[in-house]
Amino acid sequence: MTSRPDIDLNLSPYLQGNYAPVLEENTFDEGEGGLRVEGEIPANLIGAFMRNGPNIAWQPDHYVYPADGDGMVHALYVKDGRAHYRNRWVRTAGFEVEEKLGRSCYGSVGKIRMPDEETLAAGGPPGPLKNLANTNIVYHGDKLMALWEVGNAYELNADLSTVGEWDYAGALTPGDGLTAHPKICGRTGELVTCTQRWDAPFYTLRIMDKNGKQVMSRVVEMPDRAVMHDMQICGKYVVIFYPPAFTNLDAGLTGGNPFVWHGDRPTRICAIPRDGGEPIWFEKSTFFSWHFTNGFQSGDKLYVDYVWMASVPFAQDPNSGLERQTRNMHRMTLDLKTGEVSDEKLGPTYCEFGRADDRLCGQRYRYGFAAASDTADWDGPNHGYNGVIRYDMNSGDSRFWDYGAGASAGEPVHVPDPSSANEEDGYLMSYVTHPEEGAFLSILSAADIERGPLARVFIPTRVPNGFHANWMPGLTL
Ligand SMILES: [Fe+2]
Repeated sequence: MTSRPDIDLNLSPYLQGNYAPVLEENTFDEGEGGLRVEGEIPANLIGAFMRNGPNIAWQPDHYVYPADGDGMVHALYVKDGRAHYRNRWVRTAGFEVEEKLGRSCYGSVGKIRMPDEETLAAGGPPGPLKNLANTNIVYHGDKLMALWEVGNAYELNADLSTVGEWDYAGALTPGDGLTAHPKICGRTGELVTCTQRWDAPFYTLRIMDKNGKQVMSRVVEMPDRAVMHDMQICGKYVVIFYPPAFTNLDAGLTGGNPFVWHGDRPTRICAIPRDGGEPIWFEKSTFFSWHFTNGFQSGDKLYVDYVWMASVPFAQDPNSGLERQTRNMHRMTLDLKTGEVSDEKLGPTYCEFGRADDRLCGQRYRYGFAAASDTADWDGPNHGYNGVIRYDMNSGDSRFWDYGAGASAGEPVHVPDPSSANEEDGYLMSYVTHPEEGAFLSILSAADIERGPLARVFIPTRVPNGFHANWMPGLTL
């Protein structure tokens, strides 16, 4: 195992507390000195819960949350009711050259610089941005993929060893940044995804069939490359938000601020007919959103559920405090006939990482889940989510499960009961870190989150706060 020098965590609030990186790759089986299971893992769950997130390996010279940090995947495999854990960095080309030279070789997204000669001579990629492969982990078309949004996917093996970059058999060309938030259609098994580029055309919608073969690609005309992080299937449409948030690479490369926010401009919303036809544009008073929860179509109306916030939540200055701003679950209604947009806040609870039963992606559904804080009263330099919220999207009723003061809960993933088509019969999995009890995988009942965990799998090492998780049914070691 590589021994690493200490890293100055004061560089950013989001390198401190449970945002701090772990600098070891661990492997634990259930039993003595390893994992401890409290309660009972549902016997018919076989697969892996995997979560990606940023985890720097060497001293950086700048750090912007949530844009920097090498991808590290934390996997909890379950088979025959027994558990196994491992965490591994995604060994991208940039990560490999930094391992070889024993230092960071690339700049921050907030302070962009070209790699130096030693880096290039050691085989480091020549561009200014390192593919971090740190945002999401998705299984589709028989491939396990760690996703970023400014480059190719990185394919991993089930044991988290890295295979290499995956460009969809040449369907993606250099400069295409594959989104980290594709959606798998609940009806067809297709992957609805997109690429964005620094040069025009800026945005291309793509559909990969259930085997991972590209079957459609369509340019959507846009005036510039905005910060468009997520996308949502809504019946026969794909909805994206086009906020007035942009990146100025040229300014960044000459020492300036690469982030541009035009708070005086509206946010545009685009509904792209999935099977052809002209995109329909809408406008709404300025907002920003990282994530959709789900969406569906009913006649001429699209219902889009998402996490709202007032402005872009990051800046070049790591201490801007923007990341802590209020965010709430909203439902937006788009009228395809009249062009009217209406929007409703579903509740006052601070939440992020909205999820639903993925089998109903793009279709009418009932329950939305999110990591949530019922206090938003953080006394530290960064923030966390002490619980999980479940919204009944029909009635607006919400339920909250509190993991306790100071706890930090990650994205809650709805895991279906393999023997039932009902949302309520599923489970809700997330990594949680409790200040006294440490890190565990929590398994809640989707029908009754207030009952508390049906099982907790305690992990004898820290699992830092991260980004996106998914349950990979049937994927085991
Ligand atoms: Fe995301």
